[in-house]
Amino acid sequence: MHIKKTKVWKDFEFIWLIIKERLDPWSIFKNSEVYALYDKAELISFCTVKDWKTSVELGTVVTKKVYRGKGYAGKVIRYFLKEHPASYVTCLTDLESFYRKFGYKRVESAPYPIYQRIKFVNLFGNKYIIMKK
Ligand SMILES: CC(C)(COP(=O)(O)OP(=O)(O)OC[C@H]1O[C@@H](n2cnc3c(N)ncnc32)[C@H](O)[C@@H]1OP(=O)(O)O)[C@@H](O)C(=O)NCCC(=O)NCCS
Repeated sequence: MHIKKTKVWKDFEFIWLIIKERLDPWSIFKNSEVYALYDKAELISFCTVKDWKTSVELGTVVTKKVYRGKGYAGKVIRYFLKEHPASYVTCLTDLESFYRKFGYKRVESAPYPIYQRIKFVNLFGNKYIIMKK
């Protein structure tokens, strides 16, 4: 297994999985950087890097359904944390315990535009929270 740094538009599978899991499509619009875990040529799990210039956000963490529960997202997130020791993540409240495993803690504010974005999407009844490490 190996982790590769690439970009969202380099592999249509990233776009497909982001849409399929109904995750924030921002990384598709921005052609964000991706850290992707492969087993030979097979994509297993990935995350995107949302670079807001003044801060960095861990984005769109996805493990393909058949590979879940085997620690693969953990490998990708630990790789991300080596590259970006200080970062934010935004997620639904259900995933707070997942990100706590990697040292993220819930916070009530964050630099522009993270806080504003979350306030905006929550106006539509969503329950997104901001976490920081
Ligand atoms: C969330 C997701 C990325 C987890 O991927 P995964 O490869 O199964 O995760 P891992 O196996 O690396 O799990 C790491 C740890 O988190 C735990 N965990 C996994 N999913 C969890 C969840 N939904 N809630 C709480 N803890 C969870 C695991 O039990 C494991 O704990 P351990 O280290 O104590 O054994 C995966 O379920 C997924 O792709 N979901 C759909 C997309 C999504 O919602 N992404 C999050 C966007 S904010």
